[in-house]
Amino acid sequence: VSFREAVVAQFQHPRGPLGRVAGWVMATRPSNRERNRWTVDLLELSPGQRVVEIGCGPGVALGHCLAQVEGGLVVGLDQSAAMIATAARRHGAALAEGRLILVHGNARAVGQLDGGFDRIFAVNVVQFIADRKALFALIRDRLKPGGRVAMTYQPRNRNPTRADAVRMAEQIAADMAAAGLVDARTAELPLKPVPAVCVMAARDALA
Ligand SMILES: C[S@@+](CC[C@H](N)C(=O)[O-])C[C@H]1O[C@@H](n2cnc3c(N)ncnc32)[C@H](O)[C@@H]1O
Repeated sequence: VSFREAVVAQFQHPRGPLGRVAGWVMATRPSNRERNRWTVDLLELSPGQRVVEIGCGPGVALGHCLAQVEGGLVVGLDQSAAMIATAARRHGAALAEGRLILVHGNARAVGQLDGGFDRIFAVNVVQFIADRKALFALIRDRLKPGGRVAMTYQPRNRNPTRADAVRMAEQIAADMAAAGLVDARTAELPLKPVPAVCVMAARDALA
């Protein structure tokens, strides 16, 4: 395992001291913060809504959601115990008040959450999902009528290009459609060195 591979692995599953460094990078790097803010804006949240973030990491986007769904519920799910602990420290008050629930587990655990949700989203997690279509089917099942999903991705490979982002967006949209989600559309955020894309789709066609 090269040093680069060891570092990249910490962004897929942060563990131990290196994992905490990765979490710190996620929470402080300006492009990462901007991507999270932008994604939550695209969700068009309103008070009372119920939202899930898959792969919440240190919990930057959870904070934006909590500020926008007063009286609702925010659920953060992550396979990394270190990231769940970091998010819990960041949002201790919301957690104590029951406005935030943190779940330590694989993305598939979204299928076991109680009740329906208005929005389910992820930021730079979709590239780690082996069977995207299966996950999107679980997500669709947890969405309330009128609910929406959003998946944001910014290429992190070596020498990434805009074409890498566009290709991934097309694959995500196709997998969403295959899982029964409708009206997929892609937004693009101009970031350096490559744009981020967010693919959004709905549970039901607009009447
Ligand atoms: C690159 S970090 C992004 C974190 C956060 N969304 C952000 O933008 O700052 C990816 C996160 O997704 C989590 N993750 C990756 N694959 C996952 C999976 N299959 N199930 C649950 N969590 C996953 C990792 O533990 C990590 O915290």
